[in-house]
Amino acid sequence: MRHLLNPLDFSVEELNELMDVALDISKHPDQYSECCKGKKIATLFYEPSTRTRLSFEAAMLNLGGSVLGFSSAASSSASKGESVADTIRMVSCYADICAMRHPKEGAPLVASLHSSIPVINAGDGGHQHPTQTLTDLMTIRTLKGRLDHITIGLCGDLKFGRTVHSLINALVRYENVRFVLISPNELRIPDYIRQEVLSDNHAEFKEVTQLEEVMSELDILYMTRVQRERFFNEEEYIRMKDCYILDAKKMELARSDMLVLHPLPRVNEISVEVDKDPRAKYFEQVQFGVYIRMALILKLLEEASK
Ligand code: NCD
Repeated sequence: MRHLLNPLDFSVEELNELMDVALDISKHPDQYSECCKGKKIATLFYEPSTRTRLSFEAAMLNLGGSVLGFSSAASSSASKGESVADTIRMVSCYADICAMRHPKEGAPLVASLHSSIPVINAGDGGHQHPTQTLTDLMTIRTLKGRLDHITIGLCGDLKFGRTVHSLINALVRYENVRFVLISPNELRIPDYIRQEVLSDNHAEFKEVTQLEEVMSELDILYMTRVQRERFFNEEEYIRMKDCYILDAKKMELARSDMLVLHPLPRVNEISVEVDKDPRAKYFEQVQFGVYIRMALILKLLEEASK
């Protein structure tokens, strides 16, 4: 059984194929509207979500399938003490594929070990978020025309931000990608990413604390939210929360073709005045998320039927 737990579960070739299918879907949505007739996706969300859960559900509905699931741990039997392993055994009887978000790192991996349907990791704690990465790759490839030879700035909470961890994992496989890691000292990228992902793959990277100082170097600026729910104490969060605010004045320092991306939700880190800047692409990014999840559902269901 094929699952998606980590962006590295797919080879670069498979990712390219997936993005090609997603692009075709975006051009000819009608041709895909019955591909999953009679199929069901279960969305098992033990943590809050708007985009990820709804985009999985929209993706399956666009393919002619149906959806079931829960959107909080409190409304599921997890609140009665049921284990992820037992829940997935049940869900395997109700649905053909599932997407799981969980506050514990590795929970979707545990689920996959007990599942007879494909499991998609829709975010596990501060660890990984592979379908956001597929969305980000598709956005960059479509709007920039390439995934290699780019300088990408990742800004904000690089310690707890799972979207950043997954994106770095995926991008080190492309040629000549330079990483500029912009964060306060307290929220620097975890050691294992710096060592095992960046250094071991000979990726070029630097770590800075000032956004202004690197703006002019960037092809892409990937902003992120300070992950309040992963902080041990609220005071620390309050001290960190507004560490970076991208505004029109800072945008003046950037190249005319720099893209601003954000996995969303945004809190204060991009001021709303930036939304009207043509370089702000975070709402377009959301649309790519539906197409790529449609392509992913098709691929995993096809492999499961082999
Ligand atoms: C992200 C997440 O859940 O990690 N959101 C998303 O899925 N688009 C980013 C975040 O919550 O900050």
